[in-house]
Amino acid sequence: MRRNGKKRARSETPGSTTHPRNKYSDNPPDFSLLASLYPSFKPFVFFSASQRPRIDWTDYNATRELTRVLLLHDHGLNWWIPDGQLCPTVPNRSNYIHWINDLLSSQILPSSCDQVKGFDIGTGANCIYPLLGASLFGWSFIGSDITDVALEWAEKNVQSNPHISDLIEIRDSKIFSSEEAPTRPEDEYMVLLGVVKESETFDFCMCNPPFFETFEEAGLNPKTSCGGTPEEMVCDGGEQAFVTRIIEDSAVLRQRFKWYTSMLGKKANLKLLISKLWQVGVTVVKTTEFVQGQTSRWGLAWSFIPTARKIIAPPIAAKKNSLLSFMLEGIKRQYSAADVLQSVEEFFKSCGASSKLNSSTFSVDIVASSDQCNTITQISKQHTLDGSSLEVPQDDLSFRILVFQQMPGTLLIKGSLQQKDSPLSGLFSLVLGSLEESMKSKFCR
Ligand SMILES: C[S@@+](CC[C@H](N)C(=O)[O-])C[C@H]1O[C@@H](n2cnc3c(N)ncnc32)[C@H](O)[C@@H]1O
Repeated sequence: MRRNGKKRARSETPGSTTHPRNKYSDNPPDFSLLASLYPSFKPFVFFSASQRPRIDWTDYNATRELTRVLLLHDHGLNWWIPDGQLCPTVPNRSNYIHWINDLLSSQILPSSCDQVKGFDIGTGANCIYPLLGASLFGWSFIGSDITDVALEWAEKNVQSNPHISDLIEIRDSKIFSSEEAPTRPEDEYMVLLGVVKESETFDFCMCNPPFFETFEEAGLNPKTSCGGTPEEMVCDGGEQAFVTRIIEDSAVLRQRFKWYTSMLGKKANLKLLISKLWQVGVTVVKTTEFVQGQTSRWGLAWSFIPTARKIIAPPIAAKKNSLLSFMLEGIKRQYSAADVLQSVEEFFKSCGASSKLNSSTFSVDIVASSDQCNTITQISKQHTLDGSSLEVPQDDLSFRILVFQQMPGTLLIKGSLQQKDSPLSGLFSLVLGSLEESMKSKFCR
């Protein structure tokens, strides 16, 4: 199937771009070993001219058998799905599970010592996230879905693993909050509201949403075959609409979940969804990028719980400058300085910061919390939560951006920080770096 994620050169095996604690980050699957241990996998392995063991990624039976033996060999899990159902790649799905574990142990939110309880929206026939989360971390799960085949096979996969079956409940989302038939197609099935029971609370929810608006858009990636039915791959409005529904439900359920998370297939959807999040009053937003072989995916997480401490993405050489500037050269003909000024205001607003444009002084005044600064810098840099976080002061960052016309097609953008010589100046330079990247990509040739 055609994936919308950014394409990368395929490493033969899922390589060094996995989460550092993902089992496969230093230890990519050894096809020769697996073929020697599992006779059913052997017919799918062949050797390249350089004598490297390979499988045919375009053969659904090969990718499904690889997933089966990896789950069995590395995780002690019995697993199967019927023909055509979406076949997960284990290293890729493990990345998301490890990121959730990072969020839970990050101390961004106050911690609790109770049994971790997760909710997998759209668990699929493969039920991959509950199986991995329960076997790797002992988490308990509700896995929801709407298709009969997914509900039946997810349950089969749970029951095939008696050592963790008590931890996982499969739940039908084809229930309506009212007796009446839904009037809008998007109301047909619930996402969280109506599926989560009144007394329930969770540490997190996760979701690998149907990414596409049409099955044609999902297409066929000639290089891989992971299967996937229209019900699994497609929904009205694609992933943006699906994740918007999770956001809307989260705005009602609020602190009933510690973390709400979703995977995204298109980086372009991040910005709009993040601005929706700030509009509904979240306290924190985190993003990450999952890279696996040729494919990138993005993780989005948010919460309504007041943060325990302020976290900012990994430090980059922090300059103690309260006045910073950059040039925008080669501005496309159709844009004026006023367009750039307006876009500066929108850039900060979309991340939840307060941003006020003054057209007579050609400036924008901004006040951003450290969480909002973190979002601003992550939008362009996609830092991961990798433990190398830097604690920053609780103060808001207050600064002014000025736009000067230098010559036709060239603008000078100056940023001046109100708190001079403050420890916030390093953060300020990161924020200006993100603004520069965004303005250049939008306005310059
Ligand atoms: C892309 S598949 C993900 C399957 C599995 N979690 C994985 O990562 O491979 C999306 C799943 O969401 C399910 N789904 C679609 N709408 C849903 C809803 N409103 N509630 C629960 N599941 C839904 C589909 O049936 C499908 O199984």
